[in-house]
Amino acid sequence: MKQEVVFTNQVEEALECLCSTEGYDRCFVLCDSNTYSSVLPRIASSRIAQAEVITISAGDEAKGVDSLLHVWSELSERGATRHSLLVNVGGGMVTDLGGMAAATFKRGIAFVNIPTTLLGAVDAAVGGKTGINFAGLKNEVGVFAHARMVIVSTRFFDTLPREEFLSGYAEML
Ligand SMILES: NC(=O)c1ccc[n+]([C@@H]2O[C@H](COP(=O)([O-])OP(=O)(O)OC[C@H]3O[C@@H](n4cnc5c(N)ncnc54)[C@H](O)[C@@H]3O)[C@@H](O)[C@H]2O)c1
Repeated sequence: MKQEVVFTNQVEEALECLCSTEGYDRCFVLCDSNTYSSVLPRIASSRIAQAEVITISAGDEAKGVDSLLHVWSELSERGATRHSLLVNVGGGMVTDLGGMAAATFKRGIAFVNIPTTLLGAVDAAVGGKTGINFAGLKNEVGVFAHARMVIVSTRFFDTLPREEFLSGYAEML
């Protein structure tokens, strides 16, 4: 599947443009507890405002089967279809897990990554590697699946803790 990587601070316009072109029937947003409070309120998009929001705990310990089951259940119970869109708003934990949830739900629905960490923007959100931790092993289960679009913006980095910034720089090196 084609993956567009868009570098812009006009996040809302990029998302709106994609949704208008593709005609998704429903929009779902996946956040962790930090991006839910720090980032989501700052995305001033009617598409996002009307979306069904799914929240998981923050931290890599949340990147496991329980969170994946939660996302699948929420998508199913709230009526996601084969033609729905999942927008992953977060760092690599959210985009890895959300990408896998989208790639497997109904054999694969479209997803967009909006990375909110430096590490996510330079690496995790791009390139099609999704997955979860399992049996004590990092990224033990996953699938290769490209986001339909990755929207890379520096707008949300101002709430990022310093150590997360350093982690992103280390990943770049
Ligand atoms: N798929 C890939 O190619 C790939 C590549 C590298 C790493 N990864 C994965 O990425 C994960 C690490 O990603 P990460 O470093 O982004 O960690 P993360 O997603 O866990 O985010 C780090 C912390 O920052 C918080 N946060 C995120 N954005 C924020 C913001 N804008 N403001 C305030 N807080 C914010 C998160 O809630 C979390 O507490 C690992 O699971 C790793 O396996 C994947």
